[in-house]
Amino acid sequence: MKVYEAICKRRTIRRFSQEPVPKEILEKLIKAARLAPSAANLQPCEYVVVDEPGLIEQVFKTLRWAGYIVPRGDPPEGERPVAYIVVLLNKEKVKAGGERDAAASIGNIVLAALEEGIGSCWLGSIERETLRGILNIPNRCDIDSVVALGYPKESPVVEEMKDSIKYWKDDKNILHVPKRRLQDILHWNKY
Ligand SMILES: Cc1cc2nc3c(=O)[nH]c(=O)nc-3n(C[C@H](O)[C@H](O)[C@H](O)COP(=O)(O)O)c2cc1C
Repeated sequence: MKVYEAICKRRTIRRFSQEPVPKEILEKLIKAARLAPSAANLQPCEYVVVDEPGLIEQVFKTLRWAGYIVPRGDPPEGERPVAYIVVLLNKEKVKAGGERDAAASIGNIVLAALEEGIGSCWLGSIERETLRGILNIPNRCDIDSVVALGYPKESPVVEEMKDSIKYWKDDKNILHVPKRRLQDILHWNKY
């Protein structure tokens, strides 16, 4: 798959088949994250990959899904993620910031996942201290984000934004994702 095609195709997925994601693929996603751009090349990100059934259930409970359409956007039982990547910022490697590095690495993760046929949801709404306890994350690391993963069981559609940025579900349970129009965000040469 070409990179631009992958960028256009990628949508946040919140409903997943229960087929496990092979460990080699999960490791490949971290290899993709590892090669992302990094300010001053500090590379402050570390990753916890969670794929044990007992743990994924506990991680799920620390996450909040699709805030605009609660509870319709929550992954229903039987369609929940089968793996997570918890993206950490090691504060011994970066004093302030580091969030941009995490974002760049997550960009690589979600696109590399898509190429493997795996859907993803980038989550920032996390009960961080509960998750820290569940996964034994040391205090030197901040929890930046969680990426939920699995083979997709939904096909959201992108649409041109009209009057609201809020994603919504139609009566067939299809998620619609409005994106701002190019002419509203693109400025050639001067604003
Ligand atoms: C920094 C960041 C945090 C996000 N946090 C959440 C979250 O906590 N829960 C959730 O369901 N989706 C979350 N999302 C996914 C967004 O809702 C999603 O990207 C947006 O609706 C656009 O849809 P798209 O990814 O299909 O283009 C987050 C995305 C980003 C970039």
